Amino acid sequence: MCGIVGYNGKEKAVDILLDGLSKLEYRGYDSAGVAIRDNKKEIEIYKSKGKLLNLKDKIKDKKLNGTCGIGHTRWATHGEPNETNAHPHTSNDGNVTLVHNGIIENYQELTQKLKRHDYKLYSETDTEVLTNLIDYYYKKYKMGPIDAINRTMVRVRGSYAIAVMFREYPNEIWVARKDSPMIIGLDKNGTYLASDVPAILKYTKNVYYIDNMELACLKKDSVSFYDLNGDEINKELKEIKWDVSSAEKEGYEHFMIKEINEEDEVVKKTLNSLIKDNQIDLSQTGLTIEEIKKFKQIYIVACGSAYHVGICAQYILEDLTRIPVRVEIASEFRYRKPILDKNGLVIIISQSGETADSLAALREAKDQGIKTLSIVNVVGSSIARESDHVLYTLAGPEIAVATTKAFSTQLIACYSLAIEFAKVKNKINKKEYKELIDELQLIPDKIKTILDNVTEEIQRFSSKFSHIKDAFYIGRGLDYAISLEGSLKLKEVSYIHTEAYAAGELKHGTISLIEDNTLVIGIATQEEIFEKTISNLVEVKSRGAYVLVVTPEGKDVKKVANATFYIPETNKYFYPSLTVIPLQLIGYYMAVSKGLDVDKPRNLAKSVTVE
Ligand code: BG6
Repeated sequence: MCGIVGYNGKEKAVDILLDGLSKLEYRGYDSAGVAIRDNKKEIEIYKSKGKLLNLKDKIKDKKLNGTCGIGHTRWATHGEPNETNAHPHTSNDGNVTLVHNGIIENYQELTQKLKRHDYKLYSETDTEVLTNLIDYYYKKYKMGPIDAINRTMVRVRGSYAIAVMFREYPNEIWVARKDSPMIIGLDKNGTYLASDVPAILKYTKNVYYIDNMELACLKKDSVSFYDLNGDEINKELKEIKWDVSSAEKEGYEHFMIKEINEEDEVVKKTLNSLIKDNQIDLSQTGLTIEEIKKFKQIYIVACGSAYHVGICAQYILEDLTRIPVRVEIASEFRYRKPILDKNGLVIIISQSGETADSLAALREAKDQGIKTLSIVNVVGSSIARESDHVLYTLAGPEIAVATTKAFSTQLIACYSLAIEFAKVKNKINKKEYKELIDELQLIPDKIKTILDNVTEEIQRFSSKFSHIKDAFYIGRGLDYAISLEGSLKLKEVSYIHTEAYAAGELKHGTISLIEDNTLVIGIATQEEIFEKTISNLVEVKSRGAYVLVVTPEGKDVKKVANATFYIPETNKYFYPSLTVIPLQLIGYYMAVSKGLDVDKPRNLAKSVTVE
């Protein structure tokens, strides 16, 4: 998954492209490039290997005054990260110049076709094949850009968001998409395109959402849209509710720590969007009470951290509503031909709303005629647009690759669903309903208390332990669920090998890995099974482990803990919202003390829009 940007207007394109790419680097950062022109046929192309910084260095002394251009930051799928494979790619004679986010699955077959027509390919990329195929149809049918791009869309298989410049059309940028994200912006200074909102938020909040298998032409002051038949179609300009500052670091060293420090705020915002007059209000989803009453089975499908939210939600939903819940990894669910209950509800959780496996899982559920609800953070994203019902989290743009604030808002969304479903199914009475909602509304302040009170301690702890090679996270019930996320956070950003285990499972094998000073992080919040968790921690302690415990204030863990981070007390169901904060901070500060690029960890990307 790469990031693409484009601008066509009155201003110097290079500044807008580089600024936009810097906001998209979380999507891929192993090489980058831009193509710029000015009312002329000639297009100047500059590419470089590595981070965007290298490209900026390369062109800083170039006089690039062009007011029309496209740009790309890459996450290699086909062909290693190098200058030749970097985008933009051009057709053999330079007639077509293109940037692409996605994967062309049948590119080998198309390569043979192009070679039969004397095309030569200089890179290892599927994108260069796409570029030449557009040129092939452009020259064969001489019907202009719309026809050439439409014929190409019919011929290729895979996912793509492309921005194209044709030599003969100096003041136009053409775009098309299928499954890969793209938005198009408009303001008095010109037209913009990008893979994601943060890239153009600084310039405009007025955007168009281009749908699958549609194309558009960006002129200097207008955008026109076409369908696969080449007929012009109308699109409504929509306003984005996010503010510019949310896509800036605002004095923080990294987006990750900035976003962790925003968690109390965004949790409050999301709660306020879901609680009206002390009642849970799911009206934004469009789900009716009749529909909720009918649900006999719930399936939660997601990837990465969103999947861990699903695991937490399973414990709460089943306990409160007594509806059976299955949690599925999207990349497995989509190919497993799952047997789904007709009276089931499939919940897709996704921050970006663009993760390819989660999108495919959504389509699988819809193909089977199962109702779908998605919990998504990006308005207008593919998963949101294709779901029957949507619940938006209000985390704002999340730039750091490792999710933090979106995770916390997804938990709030799941709590709200569980409480309301339980009420509708008469599994809780009015008093219990009120108590849960009252406690839920205290969560933002409790998160703030943790951020204020524990951050420094965690910073000290992390700098002491950032040299370790391995760490284990253990817990029972909801504590096990959240330890999965704690483990992933440390892995993602600090590259330390970690495992999360159900505390009771450790003695069935993995405890053999525990030796002197092995770091074991125990999460112990669940009253009913508290002593059980402590005895599992005693088992690892007696084998030499260094035990860190995350537990509510007032809990006595002295006999087992070498170090303890206390969190405020809350309702048993809501502890994941509090325990996750110290776990995110441990990941962050371990990575910082190792001097790593926290916001853009190696080999990762914010949203995986390819399989
Ligand atoms: C990964 C991100 O690429 O995708 C994770 O690095 C994220 O942070 C996962 O949890 C799923 O993404 P999304 O957008 O579907 O929640």
